[in-house]
Order: sequence, then C-alpha cells, then structure tokens
Amino acid sequence: MADAVGSADSRWWRDAAIYEVYVRSFADSDGNGVGDIAGITTRLPQLAALGIDAVWLTPFYPSPMADGGYDVADYCDIDPTLGSLADFDALLASAHKLGVRVIVDLVPNHTSDQHAWFKAAVAAGRGSAERARYIFRDGPTGAGDAGGPGDRGNEPPTDWVANFGGSAWTRVADGQWYLHMFAPEQPDLDWSNPEVGEEFHAILRFWLDRGVDGFRVDVAHGMAKNLTEPLPPLGANSVDRQLRYEVLDHPLWDRDDVHDIFRGWRKVLDEYSPPRMAVAEAWVMPGRRARYVRPDELHQAFNFDFLQAPWDAEAMAAIIDTSLGEATSVGASPTWVLSNHDVIRHPSRYALAPQTDTVSWLLSNGTDPVADRALGLRRARAAALLMLALPGSAYLYQGEELGLAEVADIEPRYLQDPTWERSEHRDKGRDGCRVPLPWESEGPSLGFGPSTAWIPQPAEWAAIAWSAQEDDPSSTLALYRDALRRRRELKGDASLTWLHRSTGHFAFSRSSGLVCVVNFGAEAIGLPPLQVVLTSGELTESGDLPPDTAAWLLTK
Ligand code: GLC
Repeated sequence: MADAVGSADSRWWRDAAIYEVYVRSFADSDGNGVGDIAGITTRLPQLAALGIDAVWLTPFYPSPMADGGYDVADYCDIDPTLGSLADFDALLASAHKLGVRVIVDLVPNHTSDQHAWFKAAVAAGRGSAERARYIFRDGPTGAGDAGGPGDRGNEPPTDWVANFGGSAWTRVADGQWYLHMFAPEQPDLDWSNPEVGEEFHAILRFWLDRGVDGFRVDVAHGMAKNLTEPLPPLGANSVDRQLRYEVLDHPLWDRDDVHDIFRGWRKVLDEYSPPRMAVAEAWVMPGRRARYVRPDELHQAFNFDFLQAPWDAEAMAAIIDTSLGEATSVGASPTWVLSNHDVIRHPSRYALAPQTDTVSWLLSNGTDPVADRALGLRRARAAALLMLALPGSAYLYQGEELGLAEVADIEPRYLQDPTWERSEHRDKGRDGCRVPLPWESEGPSLGFGPSTAWIPQPAEWAAIAWSAQEDDPSSTLALYRDALRRRRELKGDASLTWLHRSTGHFAFSRSSGLVCVVNFGAEAIGLPPLQVVLTSGELTESGDLPPDTAAWLLTK
C-alpha cells in the first residue's frame, strides 16, 4: 500500500494540526510503567481518527533520564527501555500509511553527561580538542585566593544560574568547570566549534534518511552564546524568563549568530524531497520570534505569547493580531499552542486567577488557592475552538483532547522532574502535566499499559478516559474531533477578518466561510443569524452564547 503521506503537499505544515506525544506517558506496550515506541504505534489509528496531521515525538534517544530524555547520550539510536530502531521504523511506516507525519525532537543545546563526547572531554583534560566541544572554564583566581594552585578557582567562573536552579557551572575532578544552562547532567555544547555543527548535520541526515518529516528544535534560542572573556556577571538575568525577555544583548539567549546555524540546517532540510520542516522552541522577547522563521531559516516557532495569554478578549485579540502580522512579515505561518510538557495544563491555568503563583499552588497540592475546575474546562474547550479556527498551524499536547487538568497533588516520591531536587523541594516542576494518559476506564493504569504507570493517575480519570469519551457527543474528545474535521475545510485559507472586538468578546471570519465567536465576558451574548455548526458548550434557551464559551458558524 502506498503511503497516504504524499510528496505533493510539501507545505503541509503551514496549516497542520500537530499532536505532541510525550513518549514516556503516552502508551506502555511492555508493562515497565513507561510509555514506549511500540505503544505509540498501537494507538496511532486513534490519533489518525481524531483528525491530526502529524505527531511530534519527545526525545526517545538513549538517555540516563536526568531530564526526561532531554539529556541525550546517543542521538542516533533509541533508548532500550523505549524500543529499538526497528520499532521506530515500524512506527514511521504505520504513521505514513495512516496519513500522519512524524516530527522528532532534536536537542542541540546540550548533550547528556553520559554522551561519548562529554566522557571524552572529562578524560582528555584542560585545553584539549575534546573539551572544546563544550564550555569548560577555570574559576577565577583572584588575589583573595590563599594557598597553592590546588586551592584556586574554587568559585564558579560566573554567577550564572541554571534553569532548574543552582549554579550553571559544575566542577570536574581536575578543577575546571563546565557550563550547563539546565541540569548538571546536561552540559552545553559550544556551537562556535565547527565540529559541533558538522555532527548535527550528520544527525539531521540520519533521521531524514530514515524518513522523518521534520524536527522540533529544543532550546533553539540558546545555542549561540557570547563567551568573550571576561564572562559578564548576570545576577537574576541569567535565568528569569521575564527578565531575559527584557535583556536584548544577553550573552546566553536569542543571539543573532544562532540564525547562521539555522540557515545551515535549512539547506540540509531542503536537500530532501519533499523538503522537510523544523519548528523552534524559542522563548524570546515579543517581536523577535519571526527572526527564527525567515525564508532561509526554520519553518515554525511556537507562539508562547498565545500560550501565556490570560483569558481575556482584548489580550487574546492583541496577541492574535501581533502574531499574524509577525508571521506574515516573513512569509511564515502562525504556530499556535496552548499547552506542552513544560507548562501547567491550560484547563488548570484558566481555572486560577491570572496572578496565581503556580509554584506555591503546586506545593499546596492544588489546595491553595482551590482551582475552579469546571470553569477551567469550559474555558479550555472554548480556547480549543478559538485556536483551531485561527489561520496557521496548531500544536496540541496529549491529553488536552480529553480535557485533562494539571495533576497538582502528585506524591513527592513519584516526582522525576530535576526541578524538584535542584530547587531543594521548593518547586515541584513539570510532572503534573506529564501523568500517563488514561485510555480505558479500568486496568492498573487505565489502559496506559499492563502495569501501574510511572506516575499514578488520579482515580477520577477513569471517567474521562479516551474510551469513556469516544462515543459521547458532548465530550471534549468529540469536540476536538469535530473541530479538527471541520478545520480541514480551512486548509489553504490564510485570512482572518475581525467582525467584532470588545472587552468581553470577539468574533472573526475566515474567507472560506467560518465565523468564530468567543465569549470571555460574564454575560451571555447574541449570535449572528448564521448556521451554528459547533459550540464548546450548550447555548442558552434563547440561543445565546454563554460566558466562557465559543461557537463556530457558517456564512456559506
Ligand atoms: C526544553 C524542553 C524541556 C527541557 C529543556 C532542556 O525547554 O521542552 O522539557 O527540560 O528544554 O532540554
């Protein structure tokens, strides 16, 4: 049977619905409690029936799992606990037969400390070519240092703080320090070393030759660094995201020279027929994102402004406008996202007041404040209809089609996010959005696999498992399925015209005939006299759109 994924549509990604599979938590075929490649293959027909165009698989490479697989020990293999290259090839073939494309996650900013390169770097010592692939430095040897050379350089080279807490520098036995902007088990590569670039071109080709359709590029905004001596002290700017946004000439983030790397990658992606695509994870200042998706660079960059927007008509409309303008200015297509494996799931975000400190909310096991879960779900369903009505592509995170909320009360003994230990138990981290999926209403892990899961699922998930929602037309799963099916009719239509904008609600139309109305306000609103084809919640008896609800209507 020929692949359903044809070569004709080489710009498929421009308006695709792409589903993020967090591999460890999607489906476990062998009963070790962790999701795997074969498990994904088994569930692919259900994803295809949901109506998605592609899956993005989070890292599945051999890894000591210091950061859920974002610590890669070998970029050209599969972790044995997750399967084999043969399993991967089988997944790819099944996906393509079903018409589903496959994007894999590439982690170029850092390797695992168990990668052959890093082990060689530690063994080879100061000044070696092996160390030059990473960022090794001596600590300062100021006048205050007493004693002989052995006492010197006891302080890290700079005050830089890692994203998971603690110093961004770790010392090796001979006294040198290496930089890691994430966990100590994730040493940063030095992208100014041409050997690093050559290696990653080979890694891209390895997966492209196997037939993958694209890449998600991890920490794309962090690869190029300004390491001119003396390295500057940064204070809080070294880690805080908001501050980072405001520091333009930051030595670590969003450097102009990162774009040279992506121009090189684009040439590799374009060597294939059809050309393959890449999507950047780039947490950058508003207005800087478009630089990653210029015509000779990557194809997409996640719109984190949309993800971070409060549930507010004016804020959302402004972000939609800016994002459309930004993408259009470079000929790219907008890339919407509401959730991923790094953030609090959006039904929970929308259930909390906008200024809520979610770190302490998680520490209170979700009791302080108490989230209004019914409200959060209503808004999440409306947000889904909003996102799927917008021109461009949409990234869905596994479980949002079931309306899953953040699991805020995971017992600490199950937490695996390095944030938990690195923050000295002050931040529980991101495991609450990574709890294994409930597929069935029964079984030791609700159909996730034949044994218990690596994080136990909340008992209440039995009622909202995939199988429990499948035949219920009012379910969140049915809402996503209906919306994804109708969304196919919008393909190729890049238009958006505002019909109405006010503090409480807005409406826009697409030239293909869809009108989307979203009510963010406290009162029900009247709908235009058009055919209503889909709503995120029931209309009032008089046919009005209630608060926190969205509707799709047709003009033709
Ligand atoms: C990205 C990933 C995140 C990971 C980090 C370090 O932000 O999405 O999960 O921890 O990079 O690789």
